Amino acid sequence: MFFVSKRNRNQDLRTARCSKKDEFYTQLSDIEKELKHYRPHFKGKVVYCNCDDPRVSNFFHFFSFQFEKLGLKKLIATCYKNQDMDLFSRNDTERAIYLEYEGDRSGNRVPDPEEIGIKHLKGDGDFRSAETIELLKKADIVVTNPPFSLFREYVAQLVEYEKQFLIIGSVNAISYKKIFKLIKENRVWLGPSIHGGDREFGVPDDYPLKAARFRIDDQGRKYIRVKGVRWFTNLDFKECHEDLVLYKTYTPEAYPKYDNYDAIEVSKTKEIPEDYYGVMGVPITFLDKYNPEQYEILGITDSDNNSGLKTKKYTKGDVPNPGNLNHRAAIKIGNEYKATYARLLIRRRQASTTAS
Ligand SMILES: C[S@@+](CC[C@H](N)C(=O)[O-])C[C@H]1O[C@@H](n2cnc3c(N)ncnc32)[C@H](O)[C@@H]1O
Repeated sequence: MFFVSKRNRNQDLRTARCSKKDEFYTQLSDIEKELKHYRPHFKGKVVYCNCDDPRVSNFFHFFSFQFEKLGLKKLIATCYKNQDMDLFSRNDTERAIYLEYEGDRSGNRVPDPEEIGIKHLKGDGDFRSAETIELLKKADIVVTNPPFSLFREYVAQLVEYEKQFLIIGSVNAISYKKIFKLIKENRVWLGPSIHGGDREFGVPDDYPLKAARFRIDDQGRKYIRVKGVRWFTNLDFKECHEDLVLYKTYTPEAYPKYDNYDAIEVSKTKEIPEDYYGVMGVPITFLDKYNPEQYEILGITDSDNNSGLKTKKYTKGDVPNPGNLNHRAAIKIGNEYKATYARLLIRRRQASTTAS
């Protein structure tokens, strides 16, 4: 179903190579699994999918088919130039397209082509362009899988325009300074349907499938499995108010203190000692289970500035300054200081009622 225009093929391939890491197409089943947690938020709302070719996007598919069920007011979708994949026409233009759908008029409860008027944008549909920002201003909730490589800018824009959103990103984005700040301030959190493992995404026809985890279906469509993706949102859902149920109790032997932070190391979220009220370093995947009424987030031991320290072993005298949040937390093992992976620094709230 995906095909590349023969015209300007060499140029297309060059473009594709550059943007390859951004061309992943979300599966309908993943959208359905996440969206079922937020239904009441969508009633009477304008939804905007701003990195989505409406001719191929499963986000557009989902919202157009669920339009009446969700009680949406309007669905807007814009696509970016130079889409490699194109179902209905071969893209030979820098101009992008957009669409505004206002629901089923014919009464058959299906979005018909005449109800989905595809229009041209003046420019290339970049989410930062003036004309797409005008569409953003009309929207209440933005839902999409944006380009991973522009994730910081993408989220910053949503925050600037005070939009509600539900978007897919890499788990590594948690440690991006500006994203982490939003998480710490409880203005962004992770969605409930992906807590690990990998997810399958469609890729363009010319995608170099040397990757270990790829598949071609019986219609010749290509897919790869991508690890470490998460939903990022500022929409509330029931599960993010549920306490993490813990069973371990604290002992100084089982939970060593860092040598460069005043906190204990907890290498697995499920092993957080339920009776400990001091500062703890936990894996960033703790956020999959995070209930802000149960724990507060104080910091992160590493930021995107310093990801190169991942495997560094500190020698004595090389121990980073205590409290310097640009360093990874280190634990002394024998005569060496071993850096941990990036850790969230958290503390349990006193009022929490976690079952023991
Ligand atoms: C990870 S893909 C996801 C596509 C689609 N949202 C989905 O989930 O199936 C990100 C999409 O963003 C588009 N894109 C890249 N840069 C963009 C930009 N500056 N503005 C808008 N879209 C962009 C890419 O062409 C790509 O199709």
